[in-house]
Amino acid sequence: MTTQLLDGCGRKIDYLRISVTDRCDFRCIYCMAEAMQFLPRQQVLTLEEIERSARLFVSQGVRKVRLTGGEPLVRPGIVGLCERIAAMPGLRELVMTTNGSQLLKLARPLADAGVKRLNISLDTLDPKRFRSITRTGELGRVLRGIDAARKAGFAAIKLNTVALHGRNADEVPALVDFAIAHGLDISFIEEMPLGDVGRARDQTYCSSAWVRERIAERYSLIDSAEQSGGPARYVRISGHPDTRIGFISPISQHFCDTCNRVRMTAEGRLLLCLGHEHALDMRGLLRRYPGQDGPVLDAIRQALLRKPERHGFDRDDVQVLRFMNATGG
Ligand code: 5AD
Ligand code: SF4
Repeated sequence: MTTQLLDGCGRKIDYLRISVTDRCDFRCIYCMAEAMQFLPRQQVLTLEEIERSARLFVSQGVRKVRLTGGEPLVRPGIVGLCERIAAMPGLRELVMTTNGSQLLKLARPLADAGVKRLNISLDTLDPKRFRSITRTGELGRVLRGIDAARKAGFAAIKLNTVALHGRNADEVPALVDFAIAHGLDISFIEEMPLGDVGRARDQTYCSSAWVRERIAERYSLIDSAEQSGGPARYVRISGHPDTRIGFISPISQHFCDTCNRVRMTAEGRLLLCLGHEHALDMRGLLRRYPGQDGPVLDAIRQALLRKPERHGFDRDDVQVLRFMNATGG
């Protein structure tokens, strides 16, 4: 018998995203407020608790685990954690989302540890803009990190760009050129209203349809039925077989019907949907039942039955007070 996790709508849950820390060396304007309070360390799951959670989910049929943050690579011990998760029987792939700032040093160790694919955030190719969007980041360092990742042997690398009018939307074609020149995939993401980041988001909202039109002015795009098991819709570019372009459109298009994922925050809240506060206190359970998996698994199964059918993002409205760094990007 194959084990699998089902939610209350009959959706199969086989993808777990884990935020391993809420901390980050950047302060991206769409993700954080300028002054952020981070969690006290004892509230953050230990590496052992993260590993145990991953093992529990993988034992129940989860096939894909993504480590995120905050910035996962600022968490001490991250490479060892990757190695232990990647080796779990039944897991198809361990992947990671990173801001790229530590990749010069860590790309090779991560690939060796068994991380299959990376998503690397890159919103602009202009150093001054990069600084103003990330508030603290240095573009050159991230570009060197991307280069190191390309040489480290990952099965695929994808750039993630949050497109914002007045900030980087005019660079959409240049970013696509960059992806093509380096043989990378790229996804354009509509900004989601998570947390009060101190900006009115509707002024910078940039739809996937708009981004696509800009790219189509330069390249001939071929619709693709490819599914990565995620919310992105992909297109291919005529004459450039090594680059796929993805559009992640949480605002303009629901992708909730095929949702296959849950998220665990750095403090061990199992979030059932990005757009709601429904959550299970995994940390409490893990600490209450240190040697006993049964009660934890029962609680997970019960919680999944309460997974909401869809999110209700509205551009103008902050409905979810959590910030993205606390959520797991
Ligand atoms: N809306 C959309 N995407 C976001 N990210 C962070 N905050 C937001 C937001 N409010 C994405 C970034 C980054 C990943 C960690 O999460 O693209 O690549
Ligand atoms: Fe850090 Fe990523 Fe949030 Fe930027 S989007 S502040 S890199 S966690």
